Amino acid sequence: MQSQWELEEQLKKVLNEKRFRHTLGVSDTAAALTMAHGGDLQKARLAGVLHDCAKCYSDAELLAYAQKFQLPITEVEEQAAYLLHGKVGAYFAEHLYGVTDEDVLNSIRFHTTGRVNMTQLEKIIFIADYIEPTRREIPGLDQCRAYAFQDLNLATYEILKNTLQYLEQEQKPSAIDPNTRITMEYYKELSQNTMDKISS
Ligand SMILES: [Fe+2]
Ligand SMILES: [Fe+2]
Repeated sequence: MQSQWELEEQLKKVLNEKRFRHTLGVSDTAAALTMAHGGDLQKARLAGVLHDCAKCYSDAELLAYAQKFQLPITEVEEQAAYLLHGKVGAYFAEHLYGVTDEDVLNSIRFHTTGRVNMTQLEKIIFIADYIEPTRREIPGLDQCRAYAFQDLNLATYEILKNTLQYLEQEQKPSAIDPNTRITMEYYKELSQNTMDKISS
């Protein structure tokens, strides 16, 4: 297993410049969130640097890799194959970059959609991906950034809510995984206490 620095050097060759800067942003933001909420800093940085390691492939390539590696492909992923860069990325993280930690692999696997019952590290990577400093400014981003350092469940809910709103506005319903709404409701429930405190 290479050092964080060696991995960064490798990823720099694989990803385009913008994606590489995003990758470093996610890694640093994941480290900052771990400082705020506790956890293993090195795992957060590792998951951050590798989370988009398969983002450099086209939809057709991602589908071909998923088939080759016998990864499960959902109907939504068939329609919007870029979603597969999480699953394919986790495969590469394990087999190409030597990651053995299941929590790190799951953080990469589920970073695009999130899922119910995420571990702290999974939430941190999901959130860091959305809020890192080089992200294009979009409505609601400042709120997500502030929530991220207060309550990971609330930040996860806010991000899922914004993502659904965006996909609906852009009329890209085919890119909406039915699980996203279920996942959003799950984190809404978990963050209800914090929401009540904020609004009172
Ligand atoms: Fe991604
Ligand atoms: Fe990303």
